[in-house]
Amino acid sequence: MENLVDFQTKEKALIDLYRSILNSKNCCKLALSRTKLVPGEGNPDAKIMFIGEAPGKNEDEQGKPFVGAAGKLLGELLNKIGLQREDVFIANVLKCRPPNNRDPLPEEASACLPWLQKQVEIIDPSLIIPLGRHAMERFLPGMKISAVRGKILRRNVSGLGYRVFMPTYHPAAVLYHREWLGLLEEDFKKIPKILEYLKENPTNEKEENNAGDWDSLEIGVSKHFEQGKLL
Ligand code: URA
Repeated sequence: MENLVDFQTKEKALIDLYRSILNSKNCCKLALSRTKLVPGEGNPDAKIMFIGEAPGKNEDEQGKPFVGAAGKLLGELLNKIGLQREDVFIANVLKCRPPNNRDPLPEEASACLPWLQKQVEIIDPSLIIPLGRHAMERFLPGMKISAVRGKILRRNVSGLGYRVFMPTYHPAAVLYHREWLGLLEEDFKKIPKILEYLKENPTNEKEENNAGDWDSLEIGVSKHFEQGKLL
């Protein structure tokens, strides 16, 4: 019952947020060239939130994130760990398509960041999975995706308190670099284990002090694996 209340409250808050984005006067120029806004979709009370880069052509046409080839791969990776798209929440750094799928400009990512932060605040996921360098840069600035992919990092994010992240490769990048598929699958296999660990070791601190601080949960989580409690 409690979950249903959370679900409904969060769902309403997300709908209100999407209305605010549609009516916003602070958006960047991409709002003028988009076909549809792609705010994100999924379970409003999800434990896992995936963050991609920006809508592509298919997403722009349908108003939904990850509905093209990269989305198919994302769905397959989720299914392999026993999850459906509907179990998680999927959002993007940008809510509008950049022309010709070019990389987001820093000013576009900055203009869109408050919406993404608000989504994190509402959904309040236990684990955030930035897909690729653009999503990672929003929350773990200055890190290199190849160095931190698959690592479990907890960071005090300004305005959001302590949040747990596991960055990994963007599925679209893996479609070009098939040799990374094994690494992406390896990272996804960790997800159920990380959630189990976080359930037993919740991160409750929401304090605003020391924003930017981060630490690694790698040792804690892997010890937990070794105790044989997890798959
Ligand atoms: N790539 C992204 O980063 N996001 C989408 O929604 C689709 C493809």
